[in-house]
Amino acid sequence: MGTTEGIGVEIGRAQAGEVDAIASLVREHAFADDGGGALIPLSRAEIAQLVAAGPFVAAREEGGRLVGCASHVEYDGVAEVRSLVVLPGHRSRGLAARLIDACTEMAASRGYAQAFALVNADAQRVFERVGFTPEEKPPEKLARDCARCPLQGDRCKESAVVLRLSR
Ligand SMILES: CC(C)(COP(=O)(O)OP(=O)(O)OC[C@H]1O[C@@H](n2cnc3c(N)ncnc32)[C@H](O)[C@@H]1OP(=O)(O)O)[C@@H](O)C(=O)NCCC(=O)NCCS
Repeated sequence: MGTTEGIGVEIGRAQAGEVDAIASLVREHAFADDGGGALIPLSRAEIAQLVAAGPFVAAREEGGRLVGCASHVEYDGVAEVRSLVVLPGHRSRGLAARLIDACTEMAASRGYAQAFALVNADAQRVFERVGFTPEEKPPEKLARDCARCPLQGDRCKESAVVLRLSR
């Protein structure tokens, strides 16, 4: 990691000082009762814990402003990539693809054999471009994270994708 992508944007492991900016980014894009949003809601405390444990990656402009993030979490022996968001002014420059790559590289180095994600249509194209393929939604995942989502059941428009990881 620590790669430079686009014009002066660096991708690297998220730092403790970035927790508030990540929490804002995730909150602004979290699923909402009105049907909007794109991410599972996470509290600041949950984000702080993940940042401390290491699996959150950040995309930063020169000067350090956060312009995107993603993370991976353990799910039944599989690394789930989630919390992927890029600020609107920085989209279509390959940052999401780089954030996903950073997460899957980290997951592979931690010994995971497979990565998984639940994605909307926009994100699915990006995940497929970096090698993920469509998959059935695993029921355990639905019971764990989706139970806290305001858009459960018929209101859910997400698809599942997977990637085999090599070390
Ligand atoms: C989905 C999301 C993360 C994609 O971020 P992004 O940084 O724009 O993604 P990328 O740049 O990697 O790819 C997006 C498009 O840019 C194109 N692109 C990539 N690099 C490019 C470049 N250097 N120049 C021009 N276009 C480029 C890609 O081909 C892709 O096109 P497509 O969508 O038509 O296939 C972003 O739109 C977002 O944050 N959305 C809101 C939150 C969200 O939906 N998160 C996903 C939850 S599952």
